[in-house]
Amino acid sequence: MTAFNEPEAKLEALLDIINSSARQAISEYKKTGHGVPSADATTFHPLDLTTDTLALKKAIRLLEGAYHQLSSILAPPQHTVMNLVFNYNWACAGVALRARIADVLDQHPEGLSVDKLADAVNLDKIKVARVLRALTLMGCFKEVERDVFANNRLSLILQSANNTGCYARLHTEDISKFAGVVYETMIDDEFSRSHEVDKAPRVFAFKKEGMKGNYFEVMKDDEERRVDFHRAMLGQSDMMGASTVLHHYHWDDVSSVVDVGSGIGAFSTPLAKMFPHLRITNQDLPEVMVQAQNAWEKSAPEALLDGRVEFMPINFLEDVPVVGKDVYYLRHIIHNWPDAEATTILRNIRKAMGPNSRVLIHDCVISHTLQTPGVGTNGLSIAPEPMLPNFGAGSHRTYQTDLTMWFALNSKERTLDEMKVIGTAAGLALTQVYDLVDTMLVEFRIAQS
Ligand SMILES: C[S@@+](CC[C@H](N)C(=O)[O-])C[C@H]1O[C@@H](n2cnc3c(N)ncnc32)[C@H](O)[C@@H]1O
Repeated sequence: MTAFNEPEAKLEALLDIINSSARQAISEYKKTGHGVPSADATTFHPLDLTTDTLALKKAIRLLEGAYHQLSSILAPPQHTVMNLVFNYNWACAGVALRARIADVLDQHPEGLSVDKLADAVNLDKIKVARVLRALTLMGCFKEVERDVFANNRLSLILQSANNTGCYARLHTEDISKFAGVVYETMIDDEFSRSHEVDKAPRVFAFKKEGMKGNYFEVMKDDEERRVDFHRAMLGQSDMMGASTVLHHYHWDDVSSVVDVGSGIGAFSTPLAKMFPHLRITNQDLPEVMVQAQNAWEKSAPEALLDGRVEFMPINFLEDVPVVGKDVYYLRHIIHNWPDAEATTILRNIRKAMGPNSRVLIHDCVISHTLQTPGVGTNGLSIAPEPMLPNFGAGSHRTYQTDLTMWFALNSKERTLDEMKVIGTAAGLALTQVYDLVDTMLVEFRIAQS
């Protein structure tokens, strides 16, 4: 700590972190044998499509955290604070997504004039040009000649077939509306102090339209929304690098896995492909199980034919999952629910567990920007000084996901201590934490009394 008493020493240390982490990222790309990505690339780099991005993401967490900290020290404060607020990139990306601009440009790899592009998507050409210039400034799309735009490696994400684009669309169209009423919910008599699911900013935003029911109940009878939501979950997994869990947990020592709240199999399908010895049970709401079976028939029919995958409908707020399996895995489930419901889900799982069963909660984990001397870190990674211990802006997606959970569901991401509290209430003890960067895998076993 004392090494950084001088402000200039902190700047130098941040510069060193930026340098070493960027070099680490370069070496991760080179290890693939395909060199480094280029700003002009029009295809994905092979590393963009792999499931184990842990080393790259660790480097980028340092890089993004250190460069944001450095620029926020050196830039005028008016500038940095307005950068936080003055940010319509989400709205521009929303236009590109809804108008399918990246799909049109896919047919014109050499680029398309903004006049022709605007005609193709039936929008005003001057407005389309302004949207594209704003995004191009951030590296998404490329101006190949004056007013001629083409796709690049970033804008490929905005194609309608891309799952992360589908996840982005959920934010630009829905979550942005909920975020727009957040202060109103904080001063409303009914909503302000409530942590109930039906008092989410989403419910407030749609109050006039008489919306009732939790997020998942609303999707029950809206198949189109449900299909998009589950594609968005595949995209969220890609964005978070969550499939890293396939490589960094000892699946070889496990025989059976229950994917509790499996969705259509964003986790369990690649798991079944990588570890053919596993017997896998997918459990989700009945309408989602139908959707999941269809998805598995297309993407992993061999696992169905072998009979090593099963589908069992559940309402995990009321029912006990299939009993006596080795692992009960919950990805992005516990963070959807306030403490009371989250504890109920874990209690129901606890009833199904055998003496050696494990519960794996795979979610974002919140940690403080200040570490108290002498207080353990519970196995979480700590950033090197003088970075904020939780990596600051390097953890951007984790903390934004926490806000998404609030705005859409009145729920939250938790600290490890908060996870321990709900685990203890369900008779579980935390045994291990795996740092997967944007998400953490938190292992629980039955608590010994
Ligand atoms: C955020 S998604 C996560 C899906 C999947 N685990 C993944 O990582 O992509 C939450 C899942 O919980 C399921 N779910 C919501 N309420 C449920 C309930 N009461 N019982 C069972 N599943 C439920 C939803 O259908 C959805 O698939």
